Amino acid sequence: MLLSINPDKLHDMATDVRTVQKAVIPAAGLGTRFLPATKAMPKEMLPIVDKPAIQYVVEEAAKSGLNDVLIITGRNKENLISHFDGVPELEYTLQRKSDTNKLRKVHEASEIAEVHFLRQGQPLGLGHAVGRARQHVGQQSFAVLLGDDLIDDRDALLTKMIEVHDSEQATVVALMEVPPEQVHLYGCAAVEPTDEPGVVRITALVEKPDPADAPSNLAVIGRYVLRPEIFDEIDKLEPGRGGEYQLTDALNALAAGKGERPVYGVVFDGRRYDTGDRVGWIQANLRLGVEHSEFGDELSDWLLEFADGLREAKAKSGRAPQ
Ligand code: UTP
Repeated sequence: MLLSINPDKLHDMATDVRTVQKAVIPAAGLGTRFLPATKAMPKEMLPIVDKPAIQYVVEEAAKSGLNDVLIITGRNKENLISHFDGVPELEYTLQRKSDTNKLRKVHEASEIAEVHFLRQGQPLGLGHAVGRARQHVGQQSFAVLLGDDLIDDRDALLTKMIEVHDSEQATVVALMEVPPEQVHLYGCAAVEPTDEPGVVRITALVEKPDPADAPSNLAVIGRYVLRPEIFDEIDKLEPGRGGEYQLTDALNALAAGKGERPVYGVVFDGRRYDTGDRVGWIQANLRLGVEHSEFGDELSDWLLEFADGLREAKAKSGRAPQ
């Protein structure tokens, strides 16, 4: 029997197959910069205004079309798992009080995406954490979103990265310009321009370089679209900077041509909050707090008043007001 297929249908079927469907969120780091807050709680559970940081990250994945989310957990994983579960007793109480607004907030987290959890075992580094996802993601490309790095949901970075991955069939890393004196805090990229504004080809990557050795001031930030070939490079890793298995080193091998496809960078100039850093975390709370629909105006008025007082006190003595 001859099978006739409508070419338009075939095209629709092909465009429907999404190349990137899964997200991996490593959240198994020790979070030592936040001690003692992180003694019994992962730093990814610290609230930004009224939601744990990781909820924003899961929401970002879902908004980019990635509804299968694997969170790599470490010690104190119970908090994380509970957050994405239902809470029948709390929901029952809120229902009885007819508090639908709060009920919606409780439900929200368990409905964003299909969330899976996997233990890292030991916090041996980001490369090791991503390597643990091999079986879950299989032979497909996948996104990695660091659980303590927030991208404002008005800036569609991940969507752009997936587009570049699809058009170039390449590994894609998010980059951001940072002041040269901060480069030693990040992975740093050597790049070549492409024809597309804001997209570069990465020729080398180095983890936390000394400023004198930094190839550029383009820092790697916590978003990646990876092809499955990354796992072979992760398997070959030796402990790198800080004695950890560094994802940057595995990516550097691909950038050096050891993989099948090249590595591209999308240069991000939008709003990013590094909530794994104490100052970054406070800034994120203030920046998102002043935009909050319920109390944003109240907080902005207070902040402006506080800033006036701070300026005055600094002018007088160089010290903050009591
Ligand atoms: P960080 O470099 O911020 O490390 O990890 P950290 O250990 O969590 O934090 P500090 O420096 O001690 O305060 C970046 C991301 O990678 C995850 C972290 O949870 C964070 O989201 N990570 C890091 C892992 O999942 N496993 C690791 O072994 C290391």
